[in-house]
Amino acid sequence: MNILLIGSGGREHALAQSLVSSKTCSKLFAAPGNPGIWAIAEKAIIDISNYKEIHDFCQKNEIKFIVVGPEQPLADGITDVMSGMGYVVFGPSKFCSQLESSKDFAKNVMQKAKIPTAAFQSFNRNQISEAHQYVESSSLPIVIKADGLAAGKGVIIAQTYDEAHHSIDEIFGGIFGDAGNKIVIEEFMSGEEASIFVVTDGIDYLILPPAQDHKRISDNDEGKNTGGMGAFAPAGIVNNEVMLKVENLIIRPLLNYFNSVDFPYRGLLYIGLMIKDNNPKVVEFNVRFGDPETQAVLPLIEGDVAKLFYTAAIGKIDKNVVSIVHKKTVCVVLASKGYPDSFAKGYEIKIPENYANNDFLYHAGTKLSDDSVLITNGGRVLSAVSMSDTLQGAINNAYNLADLVVFQNKYCRKDIGKKGLKYE
Ligand code: AMP
Ligand code: GLY
Repeated sequence: MNILLIGSGGREHALAQSLVSSKTCSKLFAAPGNPGIWAIAEKAIIDISNYKEIHDFCQKNEIKFIVVGPEQPLADGITDVMSGMGYVVFGPSKFCSQLESSKDFAKNVMQKAKIPTAAFQSFNRNQISEAHQYVESSSLPIVIKADGLAAGKGVIIAQTYDEAHHSIDEIFGGIFGDAGNKIVIEEFMSGEEASIFVVTDGIDYLILPPAQDHKRISDNDEGKNTGGMGAFAPAGIVNNEVMLKVENLIIRPLLNYFNSVDFPYRGLLYIGLMIKDNNPKVVEFNVRFGDPETQAVLPLIEGDVAKLFYTAAIGKIDKNVVSIVHKKTVCVVLASKGYPDSFAKGYEIKIPENYANNDFLYHAGTKLSDDSVLITNGGRVLSAVSMSDTLQGAINNAYNLADLVVFQNKYCRKDIGKKGLKYE
């Protein structure tokens, strides 16, 4: 079967690698993809917000199956529209995608399904003074969130009341545009974070090895929040006891809730957890794979990933088409110095021609210049990933690979994976 993959980041490069390695995949097309993806898939030059263009391209290239990487097309309803045209789409419906596109929706679902999460209250623009009053009656730190999609920037952990009041004014003042039409204010949860990916057909599901992201720009989780500076999998903090709780208290109640309202949740469910004393609570749900966790998780999945996704999307998941590799992976993000603030682009990238079988270099912010030279084109440029029998081995190999990539202003954290060593 021919497949169309939508997206252009490191996550999509890892997805592309798994899809082209699948027996079920005859030919992979990527819209738009990136230079790394174009080495293994054909570039689809189409506007992904134009469903007629997607349809025409799929007709011409005999594509029946569409895999969606990023959240925006899912929030916009690509699954509903393209399914209506007869395609199979891996990614939840517009209704279910509100789990990510509206934090207020997600919190209300969790409340109805009795899923453990931080206590909260939501406010709209007519309730500015109520929002300020709620902050005054809460303890610190307090978490202020813009309701809608804000490219990972819509969450403020306020350490003082002044900061909390200021954040409310800024969000309602429009710094995140319409994403700030509502505000969710929630209790601060302490603990250690982990990410769990679940492939589901709405009833049955396969849980992929848990991962841990490193969201801050500097070592020891200091400095500004980023899209993610690296990841490792499996994450030891998610032990058997935690995983059992995740299944019984989070995954099953959530899928049951969506079935009870006649909108089965099909596709990928990302559970962002805060874990303390073996008790997981939900920080957030996303409706797509995480970046950079995917780059660490997918190398641990062997077999026909395309068929796993396809069977989940049609409501009959076949979990036997893949198996989990019992190894450890580490993904080090190579960024442009200055990220997540301003940074320069356009520097030539030199990547090694050969590297080990268990190593992967995934492109994210790269571009081919007019004379076909690979150059930097984003904050997060490449991910260096390695798989090994031990976490320490994977750390060493990922950093060795990272060292072989050369570009001006290259920056990476030096401690990716370190927090997992205590569980080894
Ligand atoms: P979100 O976009 O909701 O995942 O939030 C981004 C990051 O903010 C999370 O990965 C956490 O590190 C942090 N965060 C969000 N909500 C909370 C909370 N209630 N308590 C503590 N940290 C939080
Ligand atoms: N790595 C966090 C995310 O993808 O949302």
